[in-house]
Amino acid sequence: MEKNRKDEQLEQFRVDDRDQKLTTNQGLKVTEDEFSLKAGVRGPTLMEDFHFREKMTHFDHERIPERVVHARGFAAHGEFELYESMNQYTKANFLTDTSKKTPVFVRFSTVVGSRGSAETVRDVRGFATKFYTDEGNYDLVGNNMPVFFIQDAIKFPDFVHAVKPEPHNEMPQAASAHDTFWDFVANNQESAHMVMWAMSDRAIPRSFRMMEGFGVHTFRFVNAEGVAHFVKFHWKPLLGAHSLVWDEAQKISGKDPDFHRRDLYESIENGDFPVYELGVQILAEEDEFKFDFDVLDPTKIWPEEDVPVKLIGKMTLNRNVDNVFAETEQVAFHVGNVVPGIDFTNDPLLQGRLFSYTDTQLIRLGGPNFHELPINRPVCPFHNNQRDGYHRMTINKGPVSYHKNSLANNTPATSTPEEGGFEHYQEKVEGRKVRNRSDSFRDHFSQATLFWNSMSDIEKEHIIDAFSFEVGKVKNKDVQQQVVDMFANVNVDLATKVADAVGANPPTGGGSDVTKQSPALSQENMVKKPDT
Ligand code: HEM
Repeated sequence: MEKNRKDEQLEQFRVDDRDQKLTTNQGLKVTEDEFSLKAGVRGPTLMEDFHFREKMTHFDHERIPERVVHARGFAAHGEFELYESMNQYTKANFLTDTSKKTPVFVRFSTVVGSRGSAETVRDVRGFATKFYTDEGNYDLVGNNMPVFFIQDAIKFPDFVHAVKPEPHNEMPQAASAHDTFWDFVANNQESAHMVMWAMSDRAIPRSFRMMEGFGVHTFRFVNAEGVAHFVKFHWKPLLGAHSLVWDEAQKISGKDPDFHRRDLYESIENGDFPVYELGVQILAEEDEFKFDFDVLDPTKIWPEEDVPVKLIGKMTLNRNVDNVFAETEQVAFHVGNVVPGIDFTNDPLLQGRLFSYTDTQLIRLGGPNFHELPINRPVCPFHNNQRDGYHRMTINKGPVSYHKNSLANNTPATSTPEEGGFEHYQEKVEGRKVRNRSDSFRDHFSQATLFWNSMSDIEKEHIIDAFSFEVGKVKNKDVQQQVVDMFANVNVDLATKVADAVGANPPTGGGSDVTKQSPALSQENMVKKPDT
């Protein structure tokens, strides 16, 4: 297979130990690797045994912390090709030049389970893509569902504490079948739409090759003239989206907890490369307030009938990793890794993510130099005045390491936008400093109901079964009742059947929380431009 720029770069770091002499890390050849150095054949091991000490110390430090979420993952290399130039909307060169093949690295994951957990559990799946573009790394850190459980990043630690195993007994390991998860849902009704997706067959995909991906947030495209559009990203697998059925998923979890990685690995080894098309939904800035939901709300989709998905390119995964730890575990995705032509919006979930990823990687990957790890290096040059820190690999030359100096003329200079320098989109921002949520984020049920209504009868049956199974495991009867009452706002038939299955009372209807009342989808309810 032809090597792309990332393959060539990784080649410099690959080591083949076959046919080599065994040495210590200092390069010293060793004569013996099975017996430690002892005082007498039956005597104690000696402190002097540097070979034993080095080997054991390295082993003792082999593990790094698993990701705080998305710990269980599997990845592959590939490339992205563009169908047509998007220069009308963005100046990102990997989206304007159809002759380019951009190397990519994709990591799929479950969210809740720990590193060794089973892969076919009911859960959201991560779908994170690193594009090694000529202008720097661009990361599209998405999921296989188009919305999320919460609207504001400040709730993320609470949400994750509620979905992870319960703290007093670490049970259950990886499922939404427990009191804390459903208690969180009932107390955070913005989760309704995402919970519908999580209880649907989308949460038990048959294969990573048959899974859609979504950027979830609204991002911005900015073109060479500085004109911006809102954009949502989609991945559509050429094989289509397929799911397991619950009984099948549970059996596979027991028989082959590695089911999804085995499927991806073997397909790629067999040359049966998975292909995903990249789709975009594009919205003009002047259309921001034309919907009955807020386009910045990550619990909402943009209906595809209103804003069609345009397929603009395809990604082929064509090479397995050489080493899972070096590549899959050490890769660091960050929603804040952007290139000129792609920018953020004020989605309050996205804004918080912009902080969280680098922060967590500083501890997970042991300090500030994880960008130097082979899998994380951009394929274009990187130069700045950052220095030192744990595990620094670069040897920066020269006496000066600060911007604007008159002692040396060799420190890196900034670039103009014409030269490829990143310029933040100059959005006008005005308003009072407040700690609350815009009223335009308050309808939590209309799209959940639209989702339910779009399901076929068998899909509805699966959703009822999933709710009944998961909520049925909840021990606290009040929590069960709150969930039943909450989902009556999505569909009364759904809630009644779940109530019946779990032994709760029939739903009481809307409940007391004003956010439970879904305004009807109508022109009067269109989101108004907020007063500043
Ligand atoms: C991983 C935080 C929402 C997709 C992670 C990690 C953190 C995190 C700390 C571990 C990263 C690492 O150790 O390298 C957050 C926060 C969120 C949020 C604070 C909301 C405020 C989302 C959303 C999506 C998403 C909405 C999807 C659109 C992912 C994926 C990974 C991940 C795919 C795994 C990346 C990999 O494979 O290495 N997130 N996340 N997250 N997150 Fe989020």
